[in-house]
Amino acid sequence: ATFKIGYFVGSLASGSINRTLSQALIKLAPDDLEFTEIPIRDLPLYSYDYDADFPPAGRALKEAIEASDGILFVSPEYNRSIPGALKNAIDWGSRPWGTNSFARKPTGIIGASPGSIGTAVMQSSMRSVLSFLDAPQLNAPEVYIQFKPETFSDDGDVRDEGTAKFLRHYMEEYSAFVQRVLAANAPGHI
Ligand code: FNR
Repeated sequence: ATFKIGYFVGSLASGSINRTLSQALIKLAPDDLEFTEIPIRDLPLYSYDYDADFPPAGRALKEAIEASDGILFVSPEYNRSIPGALKNAIDWGSRPWGTNSFARKPTGIIGASPGSIGTAVMQSSMRSVLSFLDAPQLNAPEVYIQFKPETFSDDGDVRDEGTAKFLRHYMEEYSAFVQRVLAANAPGHI
C-alpha cells in the first residue's frame, strides 16, 4: 500500500531552507509514502466572513488536507512561533466551524533554522494548535535541524551521513505512525 502525505512548507521565501529540508525528507522517505505539497501562498488572510461562501483557495486547501492520509509540516520558526502564513493556512483548514479538516489526521512537525534552537519553540507552538484541532502528532523522534548550507544541496541531497540516517529514521517512524493512526481511525477498530 502507499500512503498520501500532504506537506506544508511554512516559508514563502524563494531560498527557503525549509523547502530544501522538505526535498531532503521526500528523498529519504520510505517508498510507501507519496508526497504532494499543499500550497499556502495564495490564501487570503482568513476571516469568518468567508464562511458563508468559502472561496476556491480555501476549499482547495481543505480538500487537499482531507485527501491526505497524513500531514507533514516543515516550517521555520518566526519570532519564537509559527510563521503567519502557515498559521493562516491552518486557520483556513480548521473552518467553517464544525468542518475542521485536521481532525484525526496524523501529523508530523519538523523544521530548520540557522540558529541552534532549530525551530524547537515553533514546534511547541504547533503542538498546542494541533492538539486543539484534534490532530494526532508523532511525538518521538523530535527533529531540530540547525541548518548548515554545506550539509544540504539545493535539491535536497544530504551530504552528511549522520544527518541523512537520522532523517531517514524520522521518516520511517512517521510512516509507521501514519499507518497506526489510520488503522485506529478505521471503522470497526476497537
Ligand atoms: C526569523 N528567524 C528566526 N530563527 C529562529 O531560529 N527563531 C526565531 O524566532 C526566528 N525569528 C525570525 C523571524 C522572522 C520574521 C524571520 C524572517 C526570520 C530566522 C529564520 O530561522 C531564517 O530566516 C530561516 O532561513 C527561515 O527559514 P526559511 O524561510 O529559509 O525556510
